[in-house]
Amino acid sequence: MTALEDTFRTRTGEAPSGTWFAPGRVNLIGEHTDYNDGFCMPFALPHRVTVAAGPRKDGQWVITSQNKHETVTVAPADLTPGRPGWSSYAAGVVWALRQAGYDIAGADLVLESDVPVGAGLSSSAALECAVLTALAELNGLDIAGMDRARLARTAENEFVGAPTGLMDQAASTLCTAGHALFFDCRDLTVEQVPFDPATFGVEVLVLDTNTPHSLVDSEYAERRTSCHEAARQLGVTALREVSADGLGDALTALADPLLRKRVRHVVTENERVRQARQALRTGSLDELAPLLDQSHASMRDDFEITVPTVDLAVETARAAGALGARMTGGGFGGCIIALVPAGRTDEVGEEVARAFAEAGYAAPAWFTATPSAGAGRLR
Ligand code: GLA
Repeated sequence: MTALEDTFRTRTGEAPSGTWFAPGRVNLIGEHTDYNDGFCMPFALPHRVTVAAGPRKDGQWVITSQNKHETVTVAPADLTPGRPGWSSYAAGVVWALRQAGYDIAGADLVLESDVPVGAGLSSSAALECAVLTALAELNGLDIAGMDRARLARTAENEFVGAPTGLMDQAASTLCTAGHALFFDCRDLTVEQVPFDPATFGVEVLVLDTNTPHSLVDSEYAERRTSCHEAARQLGVTALREVSADGLGDALTALADPLLRKRVRHVVTENERVRQARQALRTGSLDELAPLLDQSHASMRDDFEITVPTVDLAVETARAAGALGARMTGGGFGGCIIALVPAGRTDEVGEEVARAFAEAGYAAPAWFTATPSAGAGRLR
């Protein structure tokens, strides 16, 4: 019996019906493109939320977080959007399923997570997708993968109240081990692109700058609004419709210099995602690595979502031997990823730690990530 099953049994007096999981993610490339109907290419982390679950007869959802050492009871009457606290991510999933017309019976849920929280690695999407996967199976629901991702995002957008795109939930649900997920956010189609860093002779270093990203909510919403305003002025439904060839004309048509920068980021980033997919297909590190650098420069100079710690981490990693590096995730802190020659990730991490100490920043944390499995049943 696993420790999680043990806790479940101690709390409920029964064995769980099963154990399910959903992972966090890093985004290899394609930032702030998802809500512009564009392209992104995340992969799942080995870090995940695991949930042991079983049915309850009283119509309530009793949710225990091993990480928080807390149990919360959610009755149908408690399913009101805007509920505070960690349990709102789980309650939001119940709410979203019921809104979509699914009959969701009461359940006991015991959760544990090793996805770093507040680091831009989608710990919340992992929680939503793990609970959704468990509840779907407990209730005998056959919901297609992309629909699961959309339901999890509904929980995030409408119940928790964070106006995100679909990338994180799609990654957590649909990624497969050994692949990056090329995701077309307009068509809602995906392509599993084989990505084994070892075949490129590199490892993917994920370094958490440990920067509290306090501005992330307001700044994220502002970027989204700016992009929609730019699309409106350009007479397109979404910036996805501006091609790389059409970028010059689009920039000329926009009077506001800030909107011009935002558009330039989104359009060039979409192009980089496609180029990165091609580089993965052909196994060309020489083509892949510079795309990460260009993506970072675009986020720093045009989209203006990086912060000094993140920029220092990227610059230091590059100077210490990384072949390409960029911030990953929503921005204003969080993690960078770097393609580092195999066996040298600690060396690069330690260089960044030294630079952070010199600059008076909090110590970073790092690990090496391999593309891992999306949500599923564990036991
Ligand atoms: C956050 C959001 C995603 C996406 C990224 C930026 O992770 O949840 O939907 O917009 O930021 O690429």
